[in-house]
Order: sequence, then structure tokens, then C-alpha cells
Amino acid sequence: MELTVKQCRSLRGRISVPGDKSISHRAVMLGALARGKTEISNYLMGEDCLSTIKCFKAMGVDISENNGVITVQGGGLQGLKEPEDVLDCGNSGTTARLLLGILAGQPFFSVLTGDQSLRRRPMGRVTTPLAQMGAGFAGRKQGTLLPLAVRGGKLKAIHYKTPVASAQLKSSILMAGLFAGGKTVVEEPVKSRDHTERMLQLFGARVEVDGCTAAVQGQPELTGQKLTVPGDISSAAFFLVAAAIVPGSDVTIEGVGLNPTRNGILEVLQNMGARIDITNRGLESGEPVGDVRVRGGMLKGTVIDGDIIPRLIDEIPVLAVAAAVAQGKTIFRDAAELRVKETDRIAAVAGELAKFGVKIEEQPDGMIIEGGKPLTGTVCTSHGDHRIGMAMAVAGLAASGKTVVQDAEIINISFPGFENVLKSIIVE
Ligand code: S3P
Repeated sequence: MELTVKQCRSLRGRISVPGDKSISHRAVMLGALARGKTEISNYLMGEDCLSTIKCFKAMGVDISENNGVITVQGGGLQGLKEPEDVLDCGNSGTTARLLLGILAGQPFFSVLTGDQSLRRRPMGRVTTPLAQMGAGFAGRKQGTLLPLAVRGGKLKAIHYKTPVASAQLKSSILMAGLFAGGKTVVEEPVKSRDHTERMLQLFGARVEVDGCTAAVQGQPELTGQKLTVPGDISSAAFFLVAAAIVPGSDVTIEGVGLNPTRNGILEVLQNMGARIDITNRGLESGEPVGDVRVRGGMLKGTVIDGDIIPRLIDEIPVLAVAAAVAQGKTIFRDAAELRVKETDRIAAVAGELAKFGVKIEEQPDGMIIEGGKPLTGTVCTSHGDHRIGMAMAVAGLAASGKTVVQDAEIINISFPGFENVLKSIIVE
């Protein structure tokens, strides 16, 4: 499928975005491990989160959908059954890594795989600590790539220092920690998103958080909950940047998750000169939410590095588009993790933005963008990566003439309906 975008005069209106991807995955997982019924409103019906549902159904969990509400009938920590077939995580790194943590603690054998992109992504970062806890793994490259065979078993609690700030890694260990005796502790170099810690508490687990350290007490009694998933700030990001780079724009996105471990993009866009106002602040299922209004203007270049990186890691492709339009130089550093996402996002962004005429230089851990030169509409590709596809569509709004994004069906991974929401705010 191709997505065609034309240069627009401005973007105006009030919209909402689908539920948060990270929170949706965790809600089904913890719902399955809790006792009793969990009801999830505003669950993200994107391909990734549907993969999580499919995997848990394959382990005997009753999951149904009615009027947009997902109901999970949890059977408690010991309630999963040995799957009869290979569990397919599709494109979803969160499904694979968090599930590996859960499977590590099961008294059964399982095999996990994923699509071509996921089968290339590093799993050794999770199998190393999970093996220390007592699980067994077999797979290509010494058990570091999917497909992986998992021999779960009795786990022991560990204190683990992660080499990278990764919420998937932290969460995988905390999930395994639920099945271990005693307290499992994860220490990160920089704090990553904390949705697992928040949701574990909501379900009744004992969680301790101190700076970059998170701990969970094993063998808790988790109880089914009623949750509402906030709008995904990583999906809102495309409209935040779109409105910021097209002068005269005024867009409000309602009900967006504003978790401080996720909201780095708001700080960066403000630093670059966008006007951002937040109203209707509240708390939804243990997560801060609010309406975000953004007004466009003249943006200026900035430096994005250090501790803020994990707080905006998924937004870097679209922030690169903001940097391309901004006056002056923008430097992204300390973001080598981008090289092991759904695609190598540094190479993909550099290759695609160059097609718009943007001066962009790849670095091992980031990129340098000389912004301010007019963008020219082009034919570009998503590289089979949802966020690259949407980022290039946003670039098309600010580029002369017409832009075609090829392989755009991949956007359904995290944002079904993206094109319609975008078209609803375009003023031609
Ligand atoms: C996610 C964590 C991040 C992020 C991904 C979702 C999660 O990955 O990029 O889209 O739900 O925990 P890492 O943990 O690899 O940084």
C-alpha cells in the first residue's frame, strides 16, 4: 500500500490517538497472570498488541473483545498451559522480550518466533539474565536470536545491572521475578519507561522503585483489574511534530499519556520553539494523562542526547523531521539503540530524509542534521517500519509538491487509522 501526502497550508483540529502500545501489551500479560477478570478499555488494536493476545490465547487464556473492551479471564500465576505450537510474536519486540520473561518461569516447554525483522533483533540481552535465574534457551547464535526454544522452570531471584536502558529488558526480568522466590532487582544505567512497575502495583504486586532501580517481590497474588489505556504519546508524536513544523497550525490531541519516562518529545519541541500547552491533566489506571495543544512556528535546531534519549527513543525518527525543517543544526547522540529497532532507524531516517533533499550525516550513535533548507516531495519507503512510514508522511506535509510513502501498510503495527486522523486535520 502507498500513502500519498501533499504539502499543506496548516493543520487544525482536535483529535485523539489509539491506546498506548506498551501499556496495552502489559495489560493483557498481567491480566493473564492475575486471578479473575481484567477489563481493558481503549486497548490498541494494532498488529503488535494483537500478537500478544494471540500468544496468550495459545496458552489457554480466555480473551475476548466486546464493544471495544478486551476481557481477559486470568488463571493466576500458575494458570498458563503449554502451547501446542510455536508462539508467533510477529513484529513485536515487546511481546517477544516480556513473554520470554514469563515463559522462563513456566513448568513447560515453548518456542517463540517472529517476523523477519524480529528474528534479526537481539534477544541475548534478555536470555542472559533469564538463564542466570534458571531458565534454559536454545536458538541460533548461542540462543540470542529468535526462533528460541524455552525450557522454563524454578527461578531464583537476581540483582541484575543492565548494560542498556531498555524497558523491554527490565520488564522481562521483572516478569520472571514474579515466578522467583524473593526479591528480583533490576538496575539500569538510565531510567527507561516504567509502565511495568506502575501496572504491577495496580495488580497488587509489591514493587520498589528507587531512581534507576526497580524491584519486585516474587510469588505475589495478582488480582484482575479494570483499566483504561491512555492515548499513545508515541503515536501523538507524529501530529505534534506535524503541527510544530507547519506554521499557522493549531492541533489538540486529547487523552494522551504523559508518563514522565515517555514525554521527552514535549521538552524537545518546546526547546526548538513550538508552543505547547497541556490541559485536563488527570490519572488513568496509574498513568498521567492530559490534552496536548501544539501551535507551529519557526523552529530552531537543538542537541538531543544523554538521559533524555530513553524518554523519546521511539520519537527520534519524527524528531529528525522536525530537525530537517528547523533553522540550524540538530545533533542526536547516545542513541545507538536505534540501530536495533524494527529496522536500523539511523540508517533508514538518513536514507529517506536525504531523498527530500535534507542534509543529514549518520553517526554510529545518532545523526547530525543541517536544517532549514526547503524539503522537496519525493517517493520514499517505510523500510517495513511503522514509525519510519509515519515520520516520512509528516515530512511530506512540509515538502513541496507530493510525497509517496511506499510499504505504508506497516503503519497498522501501531496506528490503525493513521491516514484518516491525519487527513481530518489537514487544511489544504
Ligand atoms: C518498549 C520499550 C522500548 C521501545 C519499544 C517499546 C516497551 O524498547 O522502543 O517501542 O514497551 O517496553 P527498548 O526496551 O528496547 O528500549
